[in-house]
Amino acid sequence: MRAWSLARKCAGRSIGFVPTMGALHEGHASLLREAVSRDHVSVLSIFVNPAQFAPNEDLDKYPRTWDADLALAEAIGVDLVYAPNAATMYPAGFATYVQVERLADGLCSRTRPHFFRGVATVVVKLFNAVLPDHAYFGQKDAQQCAVIRRMARDLDLGVEIVEMPIVRETDGLAMSSRNRYLGPEDRQRALCLHQGLQRAEALLRAGERDAATVKKLVREALSAVEIDYVELVDAETMAPLERVDRPVLLAVAAQVGPARLIDNIKFAPVD
Ligand code: PAJ
Repeated sequence: MRAWSLARKCAGRSIGFVPTMGALHEGHASLLREAVSRDHVSVLSIFVNPAQFAPNEDLDKYPRTWDADLALAEAIGVDLVYAPNAATMYPAGFATYVQVERLADGLCSRTRPHFFRGVATVVVKLFNAVLPDHAYFGQKDAQQCAVIRRMARDLDLGVEIVEMPIVRETDGLAMSSRNRYLGPEDRQRALCLHQGLQRAEALLRAGERDAATVKKLVREALSAVEIDYVELVDAETMAPLERVDRPVLLAVAAQVGPARLIDNIKFAPVD
């Protein structure tokens, strides 16, 4: 992988990189299209990273759709698909992990404490192999994006992190590889995540600045699902806020039947 990238970098070409765990959908496709259009050459990685799954999570049943993923990558014009295996990424005796402090404390870390350590570690390893100039991530996983941006700055990775908007189904559900787990009833119930966030956005637009009031509205909209968290945080540092006095991230996570789903909006007050 690195030899391929070095040859292109020496020839003055920029490398755009989209790391994924496969089971690609239009959300991933939007990142790939951006990489293909902005960089000279583009790399997609597909690696279901064991280090970011807890023993009780869905590592074994995480959807794997290899042929469809390759067809999509080819149709979009991706130059290379990098798919290392777990033994290559985590050789016997593996002992080094990257831990991003503070940003990786709240939100998804509360129920998935292992998660960002696994993500940060694998993303550094993938960057070291692919040597990208730009790496494209989705706002869908806003905390992940903030963690990786912080890590890239702190560890001088020399990779520009590009955050792309959330791609949604026509009814508003944020696209996710885990949506495949939803039966028709849960699929319908899952819509309340986006609906709650939309109501909150309207409230914020109307001038509401009290975080508790905004979060309460979202919690009410989520009454039919099992809430993991509803949080309003600083969009850059992920620190919880009481007032909406800077750009904020309003993020939700909920268990909907068999799937744990996340969604969010960003809002920047102009007053
Ligand atoms: P994965 O869940 O496959 O997501 C890969 C990338 O696609 C992430 O940057 C994610 O935010 C983005 N993405 C997913 N759904 C999206 C949507 N609806 N709209 C826009 N972008 C979307 O995130 C991971 O994999 C892993 O944690 C990884 C970074 C690859 C490390 O293992």
